[in-house]
Amino acid sequence: MPQWRQGLTKSLHKTRSMPESRYFQLATVDASGVPFCRTVVFRGITDENELVVISDTRSDKYNQLGQNSNAQVCWYFSKTREQYRFSCLATIITANQDISFVKQHWDKLSDAGKKQFLWGEPGTPRNDGTALQIEGSFDEVPPHFCVILLSIEKVDFLNLRGNPQNREWHQKDANGNWVSQSLIP
Ligand SMILES: Cc1cc2nc3c(=O)[nH]c(=O)nc-3n(C[C@H](O)[C@H](O)[C@H](O)COP(=O)(O)O)c2cc1C
Repeated sequence: MPQWRQGLTKSLHKTRSMPESRYFQLATVDASGVPFCRTVVFRGITDENELVVISDTRSDKYNQLGQNSNAQVCWYFSKTREQYRFSCLATIITANQDISFVKQHWDKLSDAGKKQFLWGEPGTPRNDGTALQIEGSFDEVPPHFCVILLSIEKVDFLNLRGNPQNREWHQKDANGNWVSQSLIP
């Protein structure tokens, strides 16, 4: 396991009672290079060092990652005062591509979580005064539900504890082995 991932495992453990530590910021760029950033929920990390996020193929982030798979994650753990900045390459798995994989993630959601995907087209105008209707069923994966896998390629870690603070850079060498370097913060 790479050194940075051992650190991330510890950060997650130390902050396990804090729901806000399961949110991170995900930045993407659109076709003209304009950046967009939003908060998403951490759903896990694979053995291949991919962060797992669930999302919607009707969202801007889906279109942006389809045009440019480069993404950056910024994740701050306030309790331990640690920031991880992950440079990632995104792969999106849709229900069309791998229904059993996508369904595993759909089935883990609470009904309240599933509802987020059943209120109609995100980002389109909403009529004032009318309640949103659920379209579809909790038992079936909606066609627009997707899983984003963010493969971590480079890591810029900063720990604010200590004087001076501790900053580390991690990236893979030509053979794919992770190498680490301490940096002046
Ligand atoms: C705490 C929090 C968690 C969120 N988690 C997710 C998530 O896991 N997946 C997601 O697609 N959007 C999530 N959102 C909503 C996004 O931040 C964003 O508003 C939405 O996905 C539309 O983004 P886009 O138009 O840039 O694609 C979350 C928002 C908040 C405030």
